[in-house]
Amino acid sequence: MEHSSLLHGIEEGRDRIIVIGFGGQYMHLIARRLRERGFYAEIVPYTSLSREALEKPEVKAIVLSGGPPSVHSPGAPRLPRWVLELGKPVLGICYGFQLLATMLGGRVERGCDEYGRTRVRVLAPEDPLFRGWGPEEDTWMSHGDCVREPPPGARVLAVSENGYVAAFRAESRGAPVYGVQFHPEVSHTPKGGLLLENFASGIAGAEAWWNPGNLVEALVEDLRRRITKGKVLVAVSGGVDSTVTAVLLQRAVPGRVVAVLVDHGLFREGEVEETLRILRSAGVEPRVIDARGRFLEALRGVRDPEEKRRRIGELFAKIFRELVEEDPEIRYLAQGTLYPDVIESGAAPGADKIKSHHNVGGLPEWLGLEVVEPLREFYKDEVRRLALALGLPRELAYRHPFPGPGLAVRVIGEVTPEKLEIVRKASRIVEEEIRRAGLYERVWQAFAVVGDDRWVGVKGDRREEGYIVTVRVVESEDGMTADWVRLPYEVIDRISRRITREVPKVTMVTYAVTSKPPSTIEPQ
Ligand code: XMP
Repeated sequence: MEHSSLLHGIEEGRDRIIVIGFGGQYMHLIARRLRERGFYAEIVPYTSLSREALEKPEVKAIVLSGGPPSVHSPGAPRLPRWVLELGKPVLGICYGFQLLATMLGGRVERGCDEYGRTRVRVLAPEDPLFRGWGPEEDTWMSHGDCVREPPPGARVLAVSENGYVAAFRAESRGAPVYGVQFHPEVSHTPKGGLLLENFASGIAGAEAWWNPGNLVEALVEDLRRRITKGKVLVAVSGGVDSTVTAVLLQRAVPGRVVAVLVDHGLFREGEVEETLRILRSAGVEPRVIDARGRFLEALRGVRDPEEKRRRIGELFAKIFRELVEEDPEIRYLAQGTLYPDVIESGAAPGADKIKSHHNVGGLPEWLGLEVVEPLREFYKDEVRRLALALGLPRELAYRHPFPGPGLAVRVIGEVTPEKLEIVRKASRIVEEEIRRAGLYERVWQAFAVVGDDRWVGVKGDRREEGYIVTVRVVESEDGMTADWVRLPYEVIDRISRRITREVPKVTMVTYAVTSKPPSTIEPQ
């Protein structure tokens, strides 16, 4: 598979930085950090490199991401030597650093673990990579191997508190080749963002032109060019991705957008009404398909989480087919696919399936529709900025992510109307209290979960056996890993009191205190 630029039609030919991905989430963080500072960065998996693409003058520099544990493990990914012969600045990070050291004749050894916060001493403060760094700074490390001997001719720019090489600078074809052992892309390296900016700007001379908020017109133009005939179907869910997709389409091809909101009865309280209000104010008039009875019926008696997801996906597909059969003018299906999904769908051979995050996967080919994905170059935080640029309300732009199968994955065991009602009411309380505490935009998700276990309660003087509601509040950068939020006790207390008082049949509230991994965020 050869890499072709994802910036189809918009802003082609403008400066960019290529992040060669060796796997893992760090590669996304690198691209995000660069983009946050205005440098457009694209990920190319190391298996899809094309010399022709990297030779283009708009590619200003190359970053090698972190990756597998060791360059010495069998089958460890390699980098073709020609990448170092392009005469472009290179920055290798962690695995990329060790790979560069090996390729340039240095020595990488096993057994020098550094994990977590590590202090680094800068030996070459005059080097442009370390502009703005003090003589000692905190960094984040995560490696078992280390560079024991730097490549011949390379200059060691920094060492770690344990005496290992933390950064070097070499040269290839007149261009600087940098390597850093630490992860500048993670927030635990406080000056890491500055280092990436130094590399992109001072060293590579890339222009900081990327600003998603300014791309609305280009995206609308591109959609107009591509949707030439017939209508485009877009399913809206109330989330920021599908809403932005629908509003862009409405601007591009008004009158030819078929927006549908499938009400599966698994939405949060007031979500359908709120979604309709926002879409209408943006000129999109969705058709609401009331499928609440059909979904409940499809889920009756099903306890297995994957089976629930499968049945929900199947019924979605059925409803879509009915819509397309009804209106033969529909030729396109628009989806709010984001950049990480575009990369991940091609780049994780052999990865274990944890959950079927379905939404409408595989459906378009089966329906014979052409897929339109206006957000495929964007990260979530960039879509939020697009939403604001489109004039959508801030509450929508910063709304927490919500899973496609809705509350069905927050009800453990069979989905019954009673348990749905409990989750819905309890989740509203959690959300209200998180907002009241001023934490809503600082947390990734905050919701309630219910299962079948009971707890004996006492209400008034009466015994009452009720449900156990678990509250889950997590912080996360991208949903791939997450940590539970250390809420103030008063907030937990208010949530607990309100849930047991306001939601019938609940006699116990618990707080989930496990990170991801080992848990996932949603219980099912
Ligand atoms: P997990 O539970 O796997 O979730 O840790 C990670 C993130 O993904 C969301 N999620 C989904 N999103 N369709 C979606 O669009 C799905 O089927 C789905 N399942 C989980 C989840 O809310 C969290 O943010």
